[in-house]
Amino acid sequence: MEKEKLIRAAIDNLPGAYAPYSHFQVSAALLCRDGSIYTGFNIENAAYSAAVCAERSAIFRAVCDGKREFEAIAVCGGKDGVITDYCAPCGVCRQVMREFCSPADFLVIMAKSPEDYVEMTLKELLPRSFGPENLA
Ligand code: THU
Repeated sequence: MEKEKLIRAAIDNLPGAYAPYSHFQVSAALLCRDGSIYTGFNIENAAYSAAVCAERSAIFRAVCDGKREFEAIAVCGGKDGVITDYCAPCGVCRQVMREFCSPADFLVIMAKSPEDYVEMTLKELLPRSFGPENLA
């Protein structure tokens, strides 16, 4: 039920995605340990490399709001906002998740609909990763 709610939040947020260059719209909904949900979407830029992904939008929004503990993120997206496949987070977003999330516990939910999704842990998506404890 909690997963369905998270996926719905991501899907409802998808139309806002700003993707005038790739036309590939992505949305994410991040579940914080305190139960709050932060959404984000991709925001592209005429200088292409300045674009930010949906996952990072959601994470940075939450971190700016003082949140540091996260349990799961739902991601959805597709060309012109039409979801036809499961949307997997890019490598940079996986690494940003690694900063704040427990690899073995954090769930990445790639959704086509609230009923049709694939879930993987961050550890499965980013094995043998480099994180904050490596610098301790
Ligand atoms: N994108 C995301 O926002 N998240 C992903 O997980 C994959 C890719 C965005 C970046 C760019 O705006 C567009 O999708 C095409 O790569």
